[in-house]
Amino acid sequence: MIFRISPNLSSLLIGCMLVLAISFATPSRAETEQDHTEIVGPNACGECHKKTVAVWQKSHHFSTFKELPRRKEAIEIAKKMGLKRIKAGSLCLDCHFTTAEASGGKRKAIAGVSCESCHGPAKGYVKRHGEFSGKKKESETEAEALQRWADSDAAGMIRPGDMYALAKNCYDCHTVPQEKLVNTGGHTAGSKFELVSWSQGEVRHNVWYNGGKGNAEASAEHKRVMFVVGLAVELETSIRAVGNATVKADYAVAMAKRAGRAKARFRKIADVLPIPEIGQINLAANSVKLKLNNKDKLSKAAAKIAAAANAISDNYDGSTFGAVDGMIPPASKYKGMADQ
Ligand code: HEC
Ligand code: HEC
Ligand code: HEC
Ligand code: HEC
Repeated sequence: MIFRISPNLSSLLIGCMLVLAISFATPSRAETEQDHTEIVGPNACGECHKKTVAVWQKSHHFSTFKELPRRKEAIEIAKKMGLKRIKAGSLCLDCHFTTAEASGGKRKAIAGVSCESCHGPAKGYVKRHGEFSGKKKESETEAEALQRWADSDAAGMIRPGDMYALAKNCYDCHTVPQEKLVNTGGHTAGSKFELVSWSQGEVRHNVWYNGGKGNAEASAEHKRVMFVVGLAVELETSIRAVGNATVKADYAVAMAKRAGRAKARFRKIADVLPIPEIGQINLAANSVKLKLNNKDKLSKAAAKIAAAANAISDNYDGSTFGAVDGMIPPASKYKGMADQ
């Protein structure tokens, strides 16, 4: 049991220092790609997390690798963007694929959206995070386990305890915050994403700590944190996307609508959950105008929202968030089927 608890504990202990230092310095996927030279690929994870890989292989995140390049709509988008091959150039690679370093230092697509797209490029943590400090699991001391998780986090591992960073990854892809891709390429301007319903269906893979027996959904408490942090990140990402828009066309309109909707939804949370962080998010979101040529103010508001969302993910376990239960999507709304 102690090992299930320590991750949260460690993220709490070092969270304050590390998360502040790392997450805010990390630019979004819209601005840069993951460091492909640090990617080990899903097969490496599968050496130990065999069942998790099997679950992932049934998701769209896996199948996009083979299917996307064959889709008529994809070829159409690529053509409009002046791309000869979907798996070449960085444009589609950032969101549809995992890329690693190939011979000659080239960047090569090796999988669809995979383990490291969400948990972080793993070269620096793949060995350390699961080695029990070189001992048998039972003989590792709690201090050693804490140090192991701290080292893994410092090497860029994004774990379930860091709901903010996990959610940020989803949204950086799923809002599709790329103006030209939407306006010129005709790519959809983002998914109708919501963190609980989109993570508890086909994406769900709670199969490691229970030894491969079943794939239970997240606990009620955990879902509350996901719901609140997810909506906060929705707000952060869409406000930033409006700030980055340059012309009044499909992209700017879609992102402004998205941000407007997120603001209204978040206000409802603020009504029932009067904690300081939620007040800060609401205030930041409502203090800026969702319009073009307002990048400075919109980016500052987004950064404030990010800081408060991060604090919620670090400081609360959801046990006091019961007031939002009625707003959380029920199982019938989960996206895709969870593998059992
Ligand atoms: C050599 C075996 C091994 C490999 C390879 C491996 N893991 Fe793990 N992983 C583990 C073990 C063992 C644990 C549980 C550690 C514990 O109980 O303290 C774990 C736990 C995790 C967790 C849960 C962390 C938490 O906070 O509870 C995540 C996420 C994870 N691994 C992701 C990955 C990813 C992504 C890869 C591939 C890049 C990977 N692992 C490769 C052994 C491995
Ligand atoms: C910023 C991230 C991002 C980039 C960059 C991106 N996509 Fe997408 N794309 C997505 C997401 C997220 C979806 C899923 C939308 C949904 O289903 O809600 C998607 C969906 C699609 C779909 C519809 C998928 C389907 O299965 O029907 C096509 C086609 C597509 N993308 C093509 C491309 C092409 C071609 C490129 C490169 C020119 C590209 N995308 C670049 C994020 C991105
Ligand atoms: C789309 C993003 C995404 C992908 C892809 C992904 N994960 Fe996860 N993973 C998550 C999220 C989110 C959680 C936390 C779920 C929660 O807190 O309920 C998680 C939790 C975990 C856990 C702890 C869950 C448990 O059993 O208790 C492990 C281990 C893990 N992931 C390993 C992997 C491995 C290995 C892969 C690749 C085969 C992978 N993940 C792919 C997002 C992802
Ligand atoms: C690296 C970019 C990326 C990240 C990170 C990412 N996704 Fe996705 N996701 C995609 C793309 C691209 C698709 C569309 C794949 C396709 O159908 O071609 C997709 C599809 C999905 C689907 C299937 C949608 C459908 O139409 O059936 C779900 C569910 C989903 N993602 C949930 C999540 C969740 C939850 C997270 C975070 C825990 C996440 N995604 C993180 C890029 C991403």
